[in-house]
Amino acid sequence: MTKKTSNTMWGGRFAAGPDAIMEAINASIGFDQRMASQDIKGSRAHAAMLATTGIITDSDAEAIREGLLTVLSEIEGGTFQFSNALEDIHMNVESRLKEIIGEPAGRLHTGRSRNDQVATDFKLWVRDQFDAAEAGLIALIQALLGQAAAGADWVMPGFTHLQTAQPVTWGHHMMAYVEMFGRDLSRVRDARKRMNESPLGAAALAGTSFPIDRHMTAKALGFDRPSANSLDAVSDRDFALDFLNVASITAMHLSRFAEELVIWSSAQFRFVTLSDRFSTGSSIMPQKKNPDAAELIRAKVGRIYGANTGLMMVMKGLPLAYSKDMQEDKEQVFDAADSWMLAMAAMEGMVKDMTANCDSLKAAAGSGFSTATDLADWLVRVLGMPFRDAHHVTGTLVALAESKDCDLPDLTLEDMKSAHEHITTEVFDVLGVQNSVDSRMSYGGTAPAQVRIQVQRWKDILK
Ligand code: ARG
Repeated sequence: MTKKTSNTMWGGRFAAGPDAIMEAINASIGFDQRMASQDIKGSRAHAAMLATTGIITDSDAEAIREGLLTVLSEIEGGTFQFSNALEDIHMNVESRLKEIIGEPAGRLHTGRSRNDQVATDFKLWVRDQFDAAEAGLIALIQALLGQAAAGADWVMPGFTHLQTAQPVTWGHHMMAYVEMFGRDLSRVRDARKRMNESPLGAAALAGTSFPIDRHMTAKALGFDRPSANSLDAVSDRDFALDFLNVASITAMHLSRFAEELVIWSSAQFRFVTLSDRFSTGSSIMPQKKNPDAAELIRAKVGRIYGANTGLMMVMKGLPLAYSKDMQEDKEQVFDAADSWMLAMAAMEGMVKDMTANCDSLKAAAGSGFSTATDLADWLVRVLGMPFRDAHHVTGTLVALAESKDCDLPDLTLEDMKSAHEHITTEVFDVLGVQNSVDSRMSYGGTAPAQVRIQVQRWKDILK
C-alpha cells in the first residue's frame, strides 16, 4: 500500500512519497523538457545497441524504439502530460513509454543510469546550440562583409579614447568586427570539437558489467568517440562552460558594436541611420527613433556572463562523480543560448539594414586635426626630420590652427613656415582625408585596397 505513494522508478526501498517541498526542489521537468528530443534520440541509440550486443531482444528493442517515437510525437504535438512527481525528462519519457508498450520499457535502462543519460542529453543539446551559433556568426560576418565591400573607401574618423585619432574607412571599421566574430567562430569550432565525446554507457559512475558497445552508441549519436573515463564522463560540465565562455566573449563583442551603433545613430553623430525595422519610437517625443535593439544587445552580455559565473559556482568544489547540484546547470545555459542566438540575429538584421551617412562620416573624418599624423610623417619623409621633432612641429601647427579656429588644411603656407621654414606647398597634398587613408597601405591597414584584400580573404575563408 505504501508503494503507491513512493516513486515507481526508484521507490522500492521507500515507504513514503516525497514532501511537496521536496518534490518542488527536486523536480527539473519544468525546464529539462527542452531536452526531450535529445533524450529520446539517446534512448533510441541505447536500445539499438542493447539489441545488437544481445543484452535485450530485437523485438523488445524495436518496441522501445517505436514507442519512443510515439512519445516524441506526443511531446511535439503538445499532448504529453508532464509530471512533477516523475522529476525529470528522463523519467517522464520512460514512464510514458511503459504506458504505451508495457513490460519491454523496463529493459531500456539496462547498462545505463540517469547520470550518463543526462550528461548525454545535455551534451547533445549544447552541441546543437554550438551549431546554431556557428550559423549565426557566419550570417553576421556575411552581413558585415556586405557593409565593408560597399564602403571600402568611405572615410570616417577613427578614434582612440573616443577622441578623433586618424581617418579610417568604413570598410576597415566593419572588418574589425569581422575579425572579432571570426575569432568567436573559431572558438565555437574548437569547443564543439573538444566536447564531442559520448558519456553514454558511463552508467552511474563506474561503467557497467553488461557487455555494452559504447563505440556504437557514440557513433549513432554523432560523437567522435566515447569518453574514456566513466567518473569524468558523468561529472563533466566543461562543455557547458566552454559554451558559456564563448557566448560571453561573443556577447562582449556584440555589446561593443551595439554601443557604437547607439552612439553613431545619435543626432550628434549621425554616422548611421538604422532602419525603421530595427528601431522604435517614443510614446511622448514624436521626433524619437530609438536604437532599442542595439541597447538590448548591449545588455544581453549581462545575463550571459551571469550564467557563465553561475555555472562556474555550481561546479566549483564538487567532489566526483555526479551530485544533484549539477541539475542547476541547465536553466542558465538555456537562457544564455536563447539570448546569444537572438542577439546575433538582431545584430545581423541591423547591420544588413543600416545606412552609413557618407557625408556625415566624411565631414567628421576631416575635423579634429585628424591628419596631424600625416603631416608629421611628411616632415619625416620629405624633410628627413626625426619623428619626435616632427611630432613637436606638428603640435605647434595644431595649436595654431586651434587658435585660428580652423582645420590643418586651412592653414596658409606662411603659417606652415612659421613652424618650420623648409615646409613647402606639397605638404597640403597629405592633409586631405582621402589621401590619408589611401596612404595607409601597410598589411591590415585602412587603405581601401587593403580593406578589399581582407574582404576577399574572408569571402574565401567562408566559402
Ligand atoms: N534531473 C537530473 C539532472 O538534471 C538527472 C540526473 C539525476 N541523477 C540522479 N542520480 N539523481 O541532473
